[in-house]
Formats: sequence, structure tokens, C-alpha cells
Amino acid sequence: MRADAIKRLVGDRPYWAPHPGPQTKVLAVGNVFEILYGGARGGGKTDAGIAWLLKAPHFGNPRYRALVLRQSYKDLRDWIDRASRIYAWYGGRRIGEEFRFQNGAVFSLGYLKDRKSFEKYQGHEYQKVLIEEAGQIPDEKMYLMLLGSCRSTVEGLAPRILLTANPGGAGHGWLKARFGCGKGSGHEPGRAFRGEDGELRMYIPATVEDNPTLLKTDPRYVAYLNALPEPLRSAWRNGDWDVYMGQAFSWSGENIITPQPVPEDARIIMAYDWGFGKPFSVGWWWVAGDCLIRIDELYGCVPGQADTGLRLSDVEVARRIIEREQEMGWKPYRRLCDPTCFNKKPDMIGGGQGDSTATVFLRAGLTLSPGDPSRKLKFRQFAMRVETKTLKVFSTCKEFIRTVPNLPMNEHTWDDVDTTAEDHIYDEACHPCMEVPLPAAVLEAQFGREAKPAAEAEPETGAYANLGDLLKRTRRRK
Ligand SMILES: Nc1ncnc2c1ncn2[C@@H]1O[C@H](COP(=O)(O)OP(=O)(O)OP(=O)(O)O)[C@@H](O)[C@H]1O
Ligand SMILES: [Mg+2]
Repeated sequence: MRADAIKRLVGDRPYWAPHPGPQTKVLAVGNVFEILYGGARGGGKTDAGIAWLLKAPHFGNPRYRALVLRQSYKDLRDWIDRASRIYAWYGGRRIGEEFRFQNGAVFSLGYLKDRKSFEKYQGHEYQKVLIEEAGQIPDEKMYLMLLGSCRSTVEGLAPRILLTANPGGAGHGWLKARFGCGKGSGHEPGRAFRGEDGELRMYIPATVEDNPTLLKTDPRYVAYLNALPEPLRSAWRNGDWDVYMGQAFSWSGENIITPQPVPEDARIIMAYDWGFGKPFSVGWWWVAGDCLIRIDELYGCVPGQADTGLRLSDVEVARRIIEREQEMGWKPYRRLCDPTCFNKKPDMIGGGQGDSTATVFLRAGLTLSPGDPSRKLKFRQFAMRVETKTLKVFSTCKEFIRTVPNLPMNEHTWDDVDTTAEDHIYDEACHPCMEVPLPAAVLEAQFGREAKPAAEAEPETGAYANLGDLLKRTRRRK
């Protein structure tokens, strides 16, 4: 492209240089496979991503191929407009769904509007993948599909992936866990650590203060961020990954406690949610006065692969439960499960004559009782317990802490969690909540006189009917 044509395209911003701080850091990091550049709004993530693709040694090698992904076609258009201005200076030109460079590099552009688009790139090779607004990917598994196409057979070009995200999106939970962005994750921002796949990962946070261009050209943007209501302000202004936005329950730090000795005569309930291709979940709950305390857990999930079951037989699950109880000394007085555990399983010729899970467990010495699986009622019991802080979890129950506080609300019914999310531990945890309903006195203390039962208003909820207020509050907090 000729210089005057470039000038026409780029206008008065002829070249781009990173700001000091996180933008410079993102461009300087060399040996890290996966980087999450994230945090507050306006920190310069999108611009940095555009420039990151131009880094040597990738850029300069004629076999370099990169993939840029955004959520929707509209988002992608916006990215293309910005990238066109910067890439023009590097001999880049957009041809259809690609940027082609004079030095041979090709950047393919795509968007992720539905589940199928995640499969589209399987089998391709891109030495660099840039995923913009990765927080909109609801499920880690979908992300892992994309990760498979970030690979290299070109000598000297190591595969690299960069994600940009703000807290609070549908993918908040898995991003936070994968990149250790929250407090207490054991990982420091800006420091690489090795993930369970053995590859290096790093979280680089940025805030609007790291983007002097925006501060100078649009000071109102900071005022806008400052004026946002909580928890949006914490998420977008401060880039705080410890906020809970859009989640079904109003979780707080008080719900998670340091483990303490469990008395020998503690009343313990074991709860079980069956799973094979999806994880099974076993929780041990101490009924301590008005509180239910989760003291231990056994989650049948493939390490590092969220929502993927270990595919264990019922016999093996029962064996592991007994082993854990012997090791820890738990002596449950009740073992609750979903009533479907009492259904007979198909036998070899497909009839419903095989042993049920309950029968298999009974043979191993574990007597299961059917819990109450009513979705709406259990959602309310659970929400109330979280809200009144009478549901507590030992901080050692990592899988509970990873999944349950991040569960999104079912936005169609508003009285259940989104059951497409990883909700097995939640289902398991609801059994003790239904078995030991929250005492009316606790409700009254928390919500005042208005929280007294109003049988006519919501007859189906019985003694704890008046949860409308509580649910409205939960919704408002969104
Ligand atoms: N190094 C830079 N030089 C000049 N302008 C920049 C630079 N970095 C960012 N900007 C400009 O600042 C504005 C905000 O930056 P950008 O869109 O990259 O932030 P962001 O973190 O992606 O924001 P959001 O969270 O809203 O997605 C944009 O107009 C962008 O072009
Ligand atoms: Mg952006």
C-alpha cells in the first residue's frame, strides 16, 4: 500500500506504541503459553491484542497464521475497523475474513455466535490465537476446543494464546479459576504459573489508569465508571474478580470458613448427586445448630477438565466414599441422594431389571435415602441459607467454591439456577438444605416481620413462603 493511501486510512494516528505498564508487559512476555489480559474497562486490552499479533518472531515468518475471535459479527466489525488502521502500517490489508500481510502472515477472523462455531477451528493450526472478550464464553470446555487449534509445526514459532476479558461475564467463574485472578488463589498477577496441563499461564490486570490516551481524550469515561452501581463498579472500574455478578446467590466471604475440628458426635449428613459422563458429587455436611457446614467433599471430575465425569461404576464410587469416611472418621446418620438413584438400571438386554445405584450402595454398606429434588423449593431453601449465612463451607472444599458461587441464574424462570452450568455440587448441596429447613426464627431475624409466612401469597412454599422479597433482592443485586 502506498504511503499516502496509508495516511488516508490511519488519519492523525499514524502509528501505535504501547503505554507503559500492562500494555508493555503483555507485549514483552515471551515464554508464556496462555495470557489473560483483563480487569477493568478501558485499560487498553483491545489495542494491545491488535499489537500483540504483530510481535516477532511470529510476525516476519511467512508461515505465521493467527486467529482472532470475537463474540459476534458486530463486535468483529469494530475490531476490524481499529486493526485496519494499525495494520496498514505493517503492510496488512483486509481481504474478506482475513488480514493478509506483505511478509506472508495471515490473520483469520472469526466470531463465536453459537456452539458449532467452537468446533469450526478444530484441526486447523494457528500459532497465535487472540480471543477478545473471552468472558462471554460460558463454558471452559468450549474454550478448550479453541485451545486445540493453537499449535505450531513451524520451527521457531511457539504457540501462544491471548485472552482479554472483564470480570462479570458468563465465563467469569472458569476464567477466574483458570488464571487465578481472585484473592486467595495462590497466584500473583503478572507472574506466570504452571497449569494442570503443564503449560505456563499468566494473568495481567489493567485499569483505565493504565490508558493515558483514554484518560486524556475522554475524562468523562472515568466519571461514568465511577458512577456505576455496585457490583458493576467493582468489576468494571477496579477489575475485581471477587465480585459476584449475575450469579444466582448472594454469596459472601462469611459463607466460607477456615476448617475447624468436627466433634466426634457431630450430626453429619452425606449427600450424593449421581454422575458418570458428568461428575458425581459427594458432600459431608455437619448439622451444627442452625447452620449447615460442608466439611468435606468428593467430586468425580477429571482434573483440569471442568464438568467432565470420571466415568466410575457405582461400585467404585461406593468404595471411594467408604475409604474417605474411614480416613476422616465421618459417621453420617443419613445419606441423601436424588430419588432416581432408586430406579433400576437397564440390564444387558436393555430391560429395566439391573441393580439400582441404591442397591449397589446398600450392598457396600451405604444406605441411601431419597432427598427432595423439587427444583423451585430447593433453590429457595439454598438461597435463604446462603443469604442468612447459615450455609457455610470449609475453605478446603475447593470444588464447591469453584462452581457453586459462580452458578448463573436461569434468566427465563428466575427461580432456579441455569441447569446447563456445572451444577452437580449445587444439586448435591440442596439435599441437606431440604432435609433440614431453615428455622423460621432465623428468617425472621434476617428479613424482619415481612418475612413471616404468607401462605395465601405463595402457598406452594409452605412454612417458608415469603421469599418473594428475598428473590427480588437477589435479582436487584444482579
Ligand atoms: N497505546 C495506545 N495508544 C493510543 N491509544 C490507545 C492505546 N491503548 C488504547 N488506546 C485507545 O484507548 C481506547 C480504549 O482502549 P481499548 O478499547 O483497547 O480498551 P479495552 O480495555 O479493550 O476497553 P473495554 O474494556 O471497553 O473493552 C481506545 O480508543 C483505544 O484505541
Ligand atoms: Mg476491548
